[in-house]
Amino acid sequence: MSINTVMVIGAGQMGSGIAQVCAQAGFSVYLNDLKQEFLDRGLSVIKKNLTRQVDKGRMQAEEMEKVLANLIPSTSLEDAKQVDLVIEAAVENMEVKTKIFNQLDEITPAHTILASNTSSLPITEIAAATKRPEKVIGMHFMNPVPVMKLVEIIRGLATTDEVYQAIEDMTKQLNKVPVEVEDFPGFVSNRILMPMINEAVYTLYEGVATKEAIDDVMKLGMNHPMGPLTLADFIGLDTCLYIMEILHEGFGDDKYRPCPLLRKYVKAGWLGKKTGKGFYEYA
Ligand code: CAA
Ligand code: NAD
Repeated sequence: MSINTVMVIGAGQMGSGIAQVCAQAGFSVYLNDLKQEFLDRGLSVIKKNLTRQVDKGRMQAEEMEKVLANLIPSTSLEDAKQVDLVIEAAVENMEVKTKIFNQLDEITPAHTILASNTSSLPITEIAAATKRPEKVIGMHFMNPVPVMKLVEIIRGLATTDEVYQAIEDMTKQLNKVPVEVEDFPGFVSNRILMPMINEAVYTLYEGVATKEAIDDVMKLGMNHPMGPLTLADFIGLDTCLYIMEILHEGFGDDKYRPCPLLRKYVKAGWLGKKTGKGFYEYA
């Protein structure tokens, strides 16, 4: 199962990062989104990241041009005809993802592996939207992708060992560390991280402390690089809410109930750093 050409679906914060690391590792990468303006935004983030590497003397300018040349903007899923692997990083919504996987199953050649960067949705259910569940797998990168070492790899019920191995090898080629986990809501990362973030929002909601105090306690007291409310803004409050809803629905336990304040912020369109306002404001 050799992988040379990849399509990344979604040019948002995760998709652009995944496309960047794939292009840097020498893969040809179709970066797909719904509109050209979303692609332009994702590509400009990649260019900014690479330019910083050049400015810091960690990359030659010619190398940057080579990486950029590996990226092919795409607004048509039909381009997936050309690829050996698709990594889907669209919004965290089962309906959106199953629709994309169903279309990809029709478009891509029989050998193509279909991976999802979902934060919490069951891989087995996404796989059931295709006629090739044995070639569907979870490939969960962490944000910011160019910096974070981990990729959680999640097998669906039908994923073959051969497909698992190909994705583990690919992850290592991207200079990341694969960790295998089972297909349960939130996997390992978000089952542990997101209830902590949700609890921080409850702590704010109940007036136990200010947002700055909550973040300071976790940063200075627990040595976390970002406080939980800053991290929630960084991840995206919509994504945090989707993940809490998946945990709540998946485990049926009230301890996963999303905080009403989180719901309110998402309803207001305050989604965090990506919209300029969440718990904090961003220029
Ligand atoms: N994209 C690319 N590179 C970035 C970046 C970004 N968005 N943000 C920071 N960096 C780079 C910087 O350029 C810098 O690189 P150099 O050392 O090469 O100069 C390096 O990261 C450190 O950055 P800074 O010095 O500016 O800031 P920092 O030391 O505070 O680190 C951070 C920034 C790496 C983001 C750090 O704050 C951190 O680790 N935060 C926690 C991140 C985290 O928990 N991520 C997981 C989120 S959960 C998830 O992803 C799963 C999910 O499904 C929701
Ligand atoms: P984002 O909102 O920054 O980007 C999503 C992108 O997908 C947007 O550009 C949107 O236009 C595009 N999109 C939506 N529907 C599409 C479709 N049908 N076809 C093509 N493009 C489409 O979101 P994000 O933070 O990058 O999250 C993307 C995925 O990655 C989600 O499943 C999320 O749970 C997961 N994830 C997020 C994080 C994080 O920290 N934000 C970390 C790991 C995984």
